[in-house]
Amino acid sequence: MCKESKIRPSGAPTRCPSKLPDADNLKLSCSIGDSVGNGISSVVFEAKDVTLSDSKSDVHLPPLVLKVARRWKSNSLLQEAWAYDEMEPIQGVALARCYGLFQVDLPRNAEPHPWDAKFYQEGQTEEIGFACDLTRNEYKRSHPALKEFVYHPDRLCVLVLERLGDELPSDLDELSREEKKKIIDLYREIAHFSIIDPEQVNVHNILRAPTNGLASLPSPTTQKIHNWRLIDFAKATKTSHTEEATYKNYWPSVAAVLGYKVSIR
Ligand SMILES: Nc1ncnc2c1ncn2[C@@H]1O[C@H](COP(=O)(O)OP(=O)(O)O)[C@@H](O)[C@H]1O
Ligand SMILES: [Mg+2]
Repeated sequence: MCKESKIRPSGAPTRCPSKLPDADNLKLSCSIGDSVGNGISSVVFEAKDVTLSDSKSDVHLPPLVLKVARRWKSNSLLQEAWAYDEMEPIQGVALARCYGLFQVDLPRNAEPHPWDAKFYQEGQTEEIGFACDLTRNEYKRSHPALKEFVYHPDRLCVLVLERLGDELPSDLDELSREEKKKIIDLYREIAHFSIIDPEQVNVHNILRAPTNGLASLPSPTTQKIHNWRLIDFAKATKTSHTEEATYKNYWPSVAAVLGYKVSIR
């Protein structure tokens, strides 16, 4: 393929107009339940006692989780919220449904429960300082909204997401060839938006579709119904690469996770 054909002639795809209803005065109240998982940037909790006030009668919420940013990691959640927004048409299709990012500035030196050291896994240590994983140049190129977090080290950020099922089994023998193909299809869905984030391709970020929440929606491009979902877009960026070039960018990481030989397809 020649170099030019990898690039979309009209540049990065524009965000499709939202089809979601206006939230108006809708207010979500809930309490933090048990932790259901954690990663480098967050601890994820079950949302308990969920209620909606000023709710229109046709609003139905599925079971939810609260993805709470670790201290100094709020920038990752902001980036992730942006990615969910960009890919709204495939929420409930190939991604979890996202119900928004909520932020609050805590009193200086506050130690909220989700920032407790007990949520760190063995060998994991807290990074001190904003966006420690960014190089100086990456920081310079960051969106102003991301840089803003430098001045708010005590900001607590929470992403509200639909609760999904189990993670991909680490024993790949438990997955049929058919099932693996279904997972590959999810990356084709993301490639349609030219969003790249291959670093986040791992077994912890591929979860089963929910079984007791809202029904899965058919893909707007292929009409397929997927039984897996992708999560975790902390480093997602939009490119002007074609769908095929974006997909190829994911392929080595996807092949490694699914136990395929890495070859250019
Ligand atoms: N929507 C969800 N439903 C159920 N479990 C989830 C959900 N989101 C995250 N988890 C669990 O929490 C873990 C950490 O979440 P993730 O979004 O990957 O955070 P991080 O960005 O810190 O890696 C996941 O690997 C998964 O086990
Ligand atoms: Mg993760």
